[in-house]
Amino acid sequence: MAKLTVRDLSVSGQRVLVRVDYNVPMEEKDGRMVINDATRIRETLPTLKFLIHKGARILLAAHLGRPDGKRESSLSLRPVAEKLSELLGRPVQFVDECVGPKAEEAAKGLKDGEILLLENVRFHAEEEDNDPVFSARLAVLAQAYVNDAFGAAHRAHASTSGVARIISAWGGRCAAGLLMERELKFLGDELDNPARPFVVILGGAKVSDKIKVIDRLLEKADTVLIGGAMAYTFKLAHGQKTGKSLVEPEHIRTALDAEAKAQTRGVRFELPNDNVVAELKDTGKLNKKGKPVFEPVNPRVNFQPDIPSDCEGFDIGPATSVRFAEAIQSAKTILWNGPMGMFEDPRFGEGTLAVARAVASATANGAKSIIGGGDSVKAINKAKLGDKVTFMSTGGGASLEFLEGTPLPGVTCLDEK
Ligand code: 3PG
Repeated sequence: MAKLTVRDLSVSGQRVLVRVDYNVPMEEKDGRMVINDATRIRETLPTLKFLIHKGARILLAAHLGRPDGKRESSLSLRPVAEKLSELLGRPVQFVDECVGPKAEEAAKGLKDGEILLLENVRFHAEEEDNDPVFSARLAVLAQAYVNDAFGAAHRAHASTSGVARIISAWGGRCAAGLLMERELKFLGDELDNPARPFVVILGGAKVSDKIKVIDRLLEKADTVLIGGAMAYTFKLAHGQKTGKSLVEPEHIRTALDAEAKAQTRGVRFELPNDNVVAELKDTGKLNKKGKPVFEPVNPRVNFQPDIPSDCEGFDIGPATSVRFAEAIQSAKTILWNGPMGMFEDPRFGEGTLAVARAVASATANGAKSIIGGGDSVKAINKAKLGDKVTFMSTGGGASLEFLEGTPLPGVTCLDEK
């Protein structure tokens, strides 16, 4: 059943608690925290502008990082209030608490169309515990609840779920924001009934992280293209040598089962037939966990089925890139989740770049392309093709869980239409 959206609410003069995902990358520059990527803030503007236009009194709740219930000045949301104000072109108030008398007073002082950002909800351990008392302390601030934090919707926390249950119990309405609505539409409805051919591109490090998604998408896709380190576990399953590549021998059966399911369902299931490999040189340094740091050296294309014993695979090879690009070009619907290799290093970024270009070009030819969050979004932005795809999810873990078919607590807690 469809969820209530912010469009269904009467919010004029009402205090509305809007949960947003402002967990944005920041770094310290000259003693100040600076936001490196404001995409998640920008993506909430349609919901906020809509609520301002309707005369709501807006309270924003969000988390930043993982402070584990302790106040940490580097994880304050104050810089986000400044950024949001700049993007909206109007003042955004900030209060350095999210519950209690200070927050309540600030909330009561709001006038129609005004916005107040509350301090990081994770400064309280009760947030992640989904503590009912803490949820109620948030709930007293507002008369209605809107969840626009798709990226945090897989967390059953007080501000993403518990507070909605209480506002509902007190007779308030709980609705999806416009970003949440778009995320559910593209990652949900559009993929449930895709225009065909439907091509799914999956990458990333581990088969175990993606197996539920592979399994679910094998029910819907026409073609599945597998890249990233997880392809080496499939290689291992075929009895080929994988050298020093990242593999999960305990998931050989899982890999073979996925291939068998693809065959039964008539899904084209494509694995890389060449790779960019490199030797590993010991740098003599240790990482934070005290483990030796190896540096990839002598990168080269390996066309053989076996990866040399002293090498690790870091990217799909040029022949695979061409084959994957051809499959992508034929698509009418594309879902991409996970890079093809270690794209952060330009020596191993060509495969991911080739996929990004093919997705952009298929989109220009009329395909609908959906980028499933996290690293694939970073990769497509790195290729400067972010505006050439149909939709990029703001979720990382949330998109993955949603694509797996797992109900998201931040969505299930919202009222039905
Ligand atoms: C994210 O960045 O993926 C979300 O904001 C969730 O953050 P979390 O993994 O710390 O819960």
